[in-house]
Amino acid sequence: MFDLIIRNASLPDGRRNMDIGIAKGVITAVDQSISSEAGQILDAVENLVAPPFVDPHFHMDATLSLGMPRMNVSGTLLEGIALWGELRPTLTREALVQRGLRYCDLAVSKGLLAVRSHVDVSDPRLVTVEAMLELRDLVAPYLDLQLVAFPQDGYYRSPGAQASLVRALDMGVEIVGGIPHFERTMEEGRASVEALCRIAADRGLMVDMHCDETDDPMSRHVETLAAQTMRFGLQGRVAGSHLTSMHSMDNYYVSKLLPLMAESGMAAISNPLINMMLQGRHDTYPKRRGLTRIPQMIEAGIPVGLGQDCVMDPWYSMGTGDLLDVANMAVHASQMGSVADKTTLFDAVTVNSARILGLDGYGLEVGCNADLVILQARDPAEAIRLRPARLHVIRRGQIIAQTAPSLSVLNIPGRAGHVDPACFAPGQKFD
Ligand code: FE2
Repeated sequence: MFDLIIRNASLPDGRRNMDIGIAKGVITAVDQSISSEAGQILDAVENLVAPPFVDPHFHMDATLSLGMPRMNVSGTLLEGIALWGELRPTLTREALVQRGLRYCDLAVSKGLLAVRSHVDVSDPRLVTVEAMLELRDLVAPYLDLQLVAFPQDGYYRSPGAQASLVRALDMGVEIVGGIPHFERTMEEGRASVEALCRIAADRGLMVDMHCDETDDPMSRHVETLAAQTMRFGLQGRVAGSHLTSMHSMDNYYVSKLLPLMAESGMAAISNPLINMMLQGRHDTYPKRRGLTRIPQMIEAGIPVGLGQDCVMDPWYSMGTGDLLDVANMAVHASQMGSVADKTTLFDAVTVNSARILGLDGYGLEVGCNADLVILQARDPAEAIRLRPARLHVIRRGQIIAQTAPSLSVLNIPGRAGHVDPACFAPGQKFD
């Protein structure tokens, strides 16, 4: 007896017409045909059923603050940081929680059920930390929120940041962050990576650093991060976020760096939407894309996750809470247009990111949490192309969000009828 059976599911690995049986919030069967009774039956009608989207890089404390106190005129990372610095003294716990709740509503509607958020610890009041810890508890029934202690203005550069970061960890923030490229000097950046990895090792925590978010090819803190990961025995617990300087690095140097990163067991988190918006700002033409080397990293065996970074905040006036927007941008900016590439990028916004976050019980296997998304698409490649409706979002076996399927009706003589969003001829296939 199941609480819920989803029938006729297409799975991300290509299996079709599969049934998924769910009992007590857990997947208890995945089979071609489940004949048992169920409290509820959902027909997926051969649509894609996937584990939920996971955003491995976000700023929940800044989200939806666009225009406060003014817009980012230059559009640069540095003006964004300055703007956030103006807004920070005015932040209140209540407003932060309310903005976070509104964003999480949007996220859930898009099938995004796990988010790693960096939390700025630069303000010694730590109102951001208090608010995000409260939010983490409030949304826990429907969304996993993981928090990173992030010294936005520099671990050494910002007075009091060292003490604030430790206090944030003591309060319950679970991951150590950093921003070595924003420290005053290369040497202080290097030293910050070492100090922050030591804190993580001493406390048994994970590390996720904003690292080399610059077009400067000589910004090479990722090398230090990989080396310190090995030195402190942090293999499998460290992520480097952004890594945009790698786009501009000398190819010979990168041929040494990629194996070092792979050897260290560190993960890479790219944020294609924001990187396309912020990088290359000092270029005239041609302009660099400013995205890290996603295909090369994947080839080298480095786990790659893709995140949003920002939605409607001082750095980015766009964003929808949809990780398929992120994967769609990665297809273009990284020139990964084959079906296999798109399937790989779908993994980067689902299973890879879940692994980077260390989520327990994530996936489609028997015994995993019954956290699922039914999309109005046939497979991962089509999902990235269409960014379709999330028909049902399921958390621990309960339907927590629904969206009506997209349905356009034509009223043109001779062409009257419904428009198939995928727009294929019947039976048309390509691999
Ligand atoms: Fe970020």
